[in-house]
Amino acid sequence: MPLDEFRRVNLDNWNERTAIHAGSKLYDLEGFVSDPKKVSGVVAFDVPDLGDVKGKSLLHLQCHIGTDTLSLARLGATVTGVDFSPDAIATARKLSADSGTPGRFEIAELYDTPNVITEQFDVVYTGVGALTWLPDIAGWGRVVSTMLKPGGTFFIRDFHPMLWTIDDEREGDELVVKYPYFETSALRFENENTYSDGDRLENKVNFEWNHGLGEVVMALLDNGLRLELLREHVVAESRNLPWMVEDAEGRWRLPSGQERLPLMYSIRAVKVS
Ligand SMILES: C[S@@+](CC[C@H](N)C(=O)[O-])C[C@H]1O[C@@H](n2cnc3c(N)ncnc32)[C@H](O)[C@@H]1O
Repeated sequence: MPLDEFRRVNLDNWNERTAIHAGSKLYDLEGFVSDPKKVSGVVAFDVPDLGDVKGKSLLHLQCHIGTDTLSLARLGATVTGVDFSPDAIATARKLSADSGTPGRFEIAELYDTPNVITEQFDVVYTGVGALTWLPDIAGWGRVVSTMLKPGGTFFIRDFHPMLWTIDDEREGDELVVKYPYFETSALRFENENTYSDGDRLENKVNFEWNHGLGEVVMALLDNGLRLELLREHVVAESRNLPWMVEDAEGRWRLPSGQERLPLMYSIRAVKVS
């Protein structure tokens, strides 16, 4: 599928980030290979809300370099990961081979997924910085529904749209709304660094879209899913605001007044029609 200008720029950004992430302490690919029982912190956090995936077929949308996908395989799912970055998919395939953890990985732009992967799954899983790269949340909901078997479970934990509205260039921990909460046309950003440790980016420009929590929920409900769980979190997987502090589990929080702002949310929903 030909990419528009926004997604072409984002693809260059993500291919470059992939190499940095593959060598980073954050993703610790060596640790994943050397310890066959290791499960990513993201998946360990999600399992209590996601439920048992043993014996289930599972599709991971925007799977990146496969650490979460293969963690779900280690918990007993038969996994397929898709992502639009050829470099990310190559890294995920190598991680699967090197770690002896079975997984299928295919290149697919999100909206093209049903053309690349033609079967349906017991579980569709995504999140942790996924939706901000997508221009059309209603179209995303159609893809999620298409990829799920009737009765199948959808799960996401992603950054909260309120977090994405906050001015991250201010000094101090005052929370000031600067960016749109609802879905708009593309927002252009320039970032020197990715969210992991490692080298600076040369492809600094990226385009992102926010999606209000109601827009995300309605994209699922409008496409035949029923909501089972909606939980908001005061911890995030990365330091999205410079004044956040790291907690004992390696996650990030506001240093004070944590009840002011949800940083992430989880949704579990079932396809009923
Ligand atoms: C922040 S990562 C997801 C993180 C993942 N949970 C992890 O930490 O391993 C976002 C992923 O979305 C992918 N992506 C961005 N835009 C996309 C699009 N339009 N279609 C498919 N994948 C896309 C990127 O290549 C990247 O791998």
